[in-house]
Amino acid sequence: MNDALKAHAALTDWRGARSRPASVLGEKWIPPTGRCLASARRFVRDVAADWEAAEDVPEVAELLASELVTNALTHGAQGVSAASGIHIVVTREQELIAVDVYDSSSALPRLCRARHLDIRGRGLAIVETFSRDWGWRITPCGKSVWFQLLAWP
Ligand SMILES: Nc1ncnc2c1ncn2[C@@H]1O[C@H](COP(=O)(O)OP(=O)(O)OP(=O)(O)O)[C@@H](O)[C@H]1O
Ligand SMILES: [Mg+2]
Repeated sequence: MNDALKAHAALTDWRGARSRPASVLGEKWIPPTGRCLASARRFVRDVAADWEAAEDVPEVAELLASELVTNALTHGAQGVSAASGIHIVVTREQELIAVDVYDSSSALPRLCRARHLDIRGRGLAIVETFSRDWGWRITPCGKSVWFQLLAWP
């Protein structure tokens, strides 16, 4: 099975495992290079805005997706081939918008408590602060890291 098919199978399993029914609002693949971070960010913001998510949700979704995609590029793409893309999926689960960022590394995210002078270790803390919920899930070909926001109260 190629990478795209494996990722699709993992996504199907994952959707089946979620307690809330989810509909996909948009999905995008990017190559594992920083060159595509801006378009990934824009994509999430546009999907949230197109589906009329409330108030500042498109901006917040963009910010949090930016942290997760940056992490996928910096921590989750080491040693993977250029053909193994990062997969971004935006779903609606009733009143929640969820953004999942799939990478092909089995290394897991670790929430840090950055100290005053630390220059790293703040991304997931930002995601935790602004999201309704966040987490990660191991898939057959890596993992997804996700967050949810209240978008249609
Ligand atoms: N997609 C990922 N794959 C593997 N490890 C990850 C991933 N995302 C996060 N991590 C791990 O979790 C740690 C914390 O991530 P976080 O985003 O909070 O900080 P950072 O990326 O190190 O720095 P900053 O985001 O502030 O620039 C990372 O240092 C890394 O070890
Ligand atoms: Mg980070």
